[in-house]
Amino acid sequence: MTKRADNGLSPQIRVLSGGEHRVLAGIGHVDPGSLDGYREHGGYAGLERAVAHLGPEGVIDEIGRAGLRGRGGGGYPTAAKWRSARGRRAERRIVVANLMGADPAALGDRALAEGNPHLVLEGLLIAAFATGASEAILAVRRDWTAAIERLRTAVAQAEEQRFAGYLVMGTDFSCQVSVQEGSGALVAGEETALLAALAGDRGMPVIRPPYPTERGLWGAPTAVHNGETLAHAAWIMSHSAEAFASVGSEASRGTRLVTIHGRVPQPGVAEVPLGTPVGEIARLAGAGRGIKALFVGGAGGGALSGGELTMPYDYEPLRAAGAGIGLGQLLVTDDATCMVDTARFFLDWSAREACGKAIPCRIGTRRLVEALDRILAATPRPNDFTMLRELSRRMADTALCNLEARAPGPMLTTLARFPDEYRAHAERGGCLAGACATPELPPLVAPLADIETAPAAETR
Ligand SMILES: Cc1cc2nc3c(=O)[nH]c(=O)nc-3n(C[C@H](O)[C@H](O)[C@H](O)COP(=O)(O)O)c2cc1C
Repeated sequence: MTKRADNGLSPQIRVLSGGEHRVLAGIGHVDPGSLDGYREHGGYAGLERAVAHLGPEGVIDEIGRAGLRGRGGGGYPTAAKWRSARGRRAERRIVVANLMGADPAALGDRALAEGNPHLVLEGLLIAAFATGASEAILAVRRDWTAAIERLRTAVAQAEEQRFAGYLVMGTDFSCQVSVQEGSGALVAGEETALLAALAGDRGMPVIRPPYPTERGLWGAPTAVHNGETLAHAAWIMSHSAEAFASVGSEASRGTRLVTIHGRVPQPGVAEVPLGTPVGEIARLAGAGRGIKALFVGGAGGGALSGGELTMPYDYEPLRAAGAGIGLGQLLVTDDATCMVDTARFFLDWSAREACGKAIPCRIGTRRLVEALDRILAATPRPNDFTMLRELSRRMADTALCNLEARAPGPMLTTLARFPDEYRAHAERGGCLAGACATPELPPLVAPLADIETAPAAETR
């Protein structure tokens, strides 16, 4: 049996102090195995308010007023998604909690599912009520064994006490909840791939539109939500839209779970108001002065330089900088980190995890890695830098899913911000960070003219 920390979380998950604990607040205080314990902390008051007082339209209005945006990366307004699913004429509707943890470096959803499973379940039931769904699925990454076990227990307890199942709380709202395990692949968290896998097909994306809220699992309108989004929905229903909206940025209200890792003394998960400067977030994990770059959003995100630490942690500013919020990953690097090698790491991971359905993705990501390998080995082809940018652009234009569209992000953003590191590797085989074991070679006869970079914001 895996050893667990006192707060009930797997040992690799540490909850950081500082920030604004809201959805993380229950962790360490609420017994994850007890519905009564959850009730003592106000649990299921949100569902009760929704079902007994607000009604589906009232719930959607409340979530809309709160300004909740999806925490799965895209930042799509949750109320709009619920309205779309509810507005379809259908006999059957479904809601899905996306707990696929596509990036193992993003620990927020796992912390919630392990530390406060009823909170995620309550959010899912509220989503089901609001959209008119009678089926709800908690789709969980297979190797999150503690989360799976606790979510199953939570569902059984909720059914027993009539918070889930038939005639919830004595009303005419019924919702069958199941927990389903899924593979831990990167693409498995993409919503259409997830729905394909849940339907028993191979977990590969399909073209949108139609969006899942129009035609999702088994053809039924389906609202797929990140686990953290659902936890915030439950929090909003029990604390009010105004309380939720009291922190955050103008465009993005509320808090966000961020997993801070890399060159920091205390890696862990922090809950911060959206719009907090990225450097301040890194400091919650003990990052000091020597931040060279922050890789935000994992393999589908991008790098900010140490000179951009005041940038607000928010969907639009990060996107405009060529990065992205992703699943809340924040990798801190220092002077001893090679930007080219780190970009290669992310790109290679995307290439390995590509499902293979879209040829430009399957071949394109591989070609990009090969070019980076040539650069790292100081054997670039004369037009490699042009090719990197051109191929990235084409991949984004033709992408079947965002794995492909966003895979070049870490490379494009480091190329824009740290061209000297690419130049040193390509022209001399030298690593400016002293991190790569590459022999120092004599300079090329002709310097590589095509390395000159486009501004970072134009790289995506
Ligand atoms: C490659 C890839 C992996 C993804 N992995 C996840 C994931 O692990 N968890 C998640 O919630 N969303 C993931 N998403 C986003 C989902 O497709 C979807 O937008 C999200 O679950 C919607 O939830 P939200 O409305 O709460 O943001 C991924 C997207 C892509 C392109």
